[in-house]
Amino acid sequence: MTLPRDGRPADAVLADLEAMRTEDAPVHGGRVLAYVYDAGVPGLPEAGRAALASFGEVNALDPTVFPSVGRIENGLVGWALDLLNGPAGACGLVTSGGTESCVLAVLAARESWRRAGGAGQPVVLMPVTGHAAFAKAAHLLDMRLRTLPVDPVSMRVRVADVSAALAEEGAVVALVVVSAPSYAHGVVDPVGEVASLAAARGVPCHVDACIGGLVLPYLRRLGRDVPAFDLSVPGVRSLSADLHKYGYSPKGASLLLFSDAHYREGAFFAYSAWPGYPVVNTTLQSTKSAGPMAAAWTVAHVLGDDGMLAANRRAIDATDRIVAAVKALPGLRVVGPPDSTLVAIAADGDEGAGGVDPFVLADRMRARHWFIQPQPACGDLPRTVHLTVQPASLATVNEFIADMAEAAAACAGQPWAKVDPGLMAALADLDPATLDAETVAGLLALAGLVGDGPPGLPAESASVQALIEATPPDVRDRLLVGFFSLLFTADR
Ligand SMILES: Cc1ncc(COP(=O)(O)O)c(C=O)c1O
Repeated sequence: MTLPRDGRPADAVLADLEAMRTEDAPVHGGRVLAYVYDAGVPGLPEAGRAALASFGEVNALDPTVFPSVGRIENGLVGWALDLLNGPAGACGLVTSGGTESCVLAVLAARESWRRAGGAGQPVVLMPVTGHAAFAKAAHLLDMRLRTLPVDPVSMRVRVADVSAALAEEGAVVALVVVSAPSYAHGVVDPVGEVASLAAARGVPCHVDACIGGLVLPYLRRLGRDVPAFDLSVPGVRSLSADLHKYGYSPKGASLLLFSDAHYREGAFFAYSAWPGYPVVNTTLQSTKSAGPMAAAWTVAHVLGDDGMLAANRRAIDATDRIVAAVKALPGLRVVGPPDSTLVAIAADGDEGAGGVDPFVLADRMRARHWFIQPQPACGDLPRTVHLTVQPASLATVNEFIADMAEAAAACAGQPWAKVDPGLMAALADLDPATLDAETVAGLLALAGLVGDGPPGLPAESASVQALIEATPPDVRDRLLVGFFSLLFTADR
């Protein structure tokens, strides 16, 4: 972009900015079932945005200069510790999002492992259904990630597999991670058993409750059978719960809770051997906006405890109705069953045997202005579509179910999205290390991700999803990086 020589009136600039959102998916209204979390409460987004704007320039780097930061953060952490049964001495911090919370949880574990004399390359052990954020953490922190298979029916990690891996890896295991629930299938791992196995070997357990941490306690209050998953479970040393998910606040806020302050200190960083101000950071960011935490604090207070309960009741009611409806649709099945408000839907039967392709289903739903998220097959886990059901989904649930029924009927007997076997063989032969930018661009064009217009997914994306699924993971990661490299091409 080129800056205008003379500045322009703010109203006109803001109107241009708003105009850029015309192609964005709507963040409210319940038609987008991933990435967004709409409480469906009138006035709530406005309250959050007002706090975000008002605190946008407050620098949360230094709570001694901006004491409001400490008050807001300690308030949010205290609320979450009560909700998630933090024992005496438990503590926490506010981060910018789930990934930052996960990275800092892994950092705290690595530091604790080092303090205890750990030698060699430390290992993070988690089910294959654990979030990619932990792979990123291992990558950034020079640790090895070992993933464990899950039971292909329940989608939960098997306790015996954790036990065997702990024994096999021995003293290099610095952290065991479990999900409550997993993003892909919405099921809670056996937290109690895994944490106790880990504790017996002196290994801390992190519960990734980024997406369920602010839902499950309310589901329990609503009388649901929620397995023990929180800080009251012996062996659980840290837990992440995102405010910008089911805390219904604007993006940029998550909670990372710890069993004790000494363990938390591993996530902190201080450096004062330079001539500038002594730096002490509780998070990866240094200068950071207090806006997201102020917004989360505001949203929590505007909703109140009853409001959170009511919002989560709407979300789980909508989930129940969707689950019941999908179970009744020929050719589809609900994976799991889910433990909270996330639903994964797979084909019931193979191609030609009545099974509906989830990728084709997602396209059909897209044509009806619903976004449900395709998830590729992974080992022996089938391709699925993911639904993040939210309170606002209750108002649209009848329409959603009717559209799902029609879309599934239209997919019945239709061929599944797949890749030509010749192309698959060629993809399998590719070595990601030798892929140059030109080959990557050629492959992306072949996949339909880049063409004449700006890079992006075509409106009908089932064939692209199938291609992504068929490509070996290391090649696919290389191509995805190449795709984003093209997507983020400077406008100059
Ligand atoms: C279970 C889980 N962990 C971690 C994350 C990462 O969170 P974020 O996208 O806020 O970085 C997510 C995101 O959906 C998640 O569902």
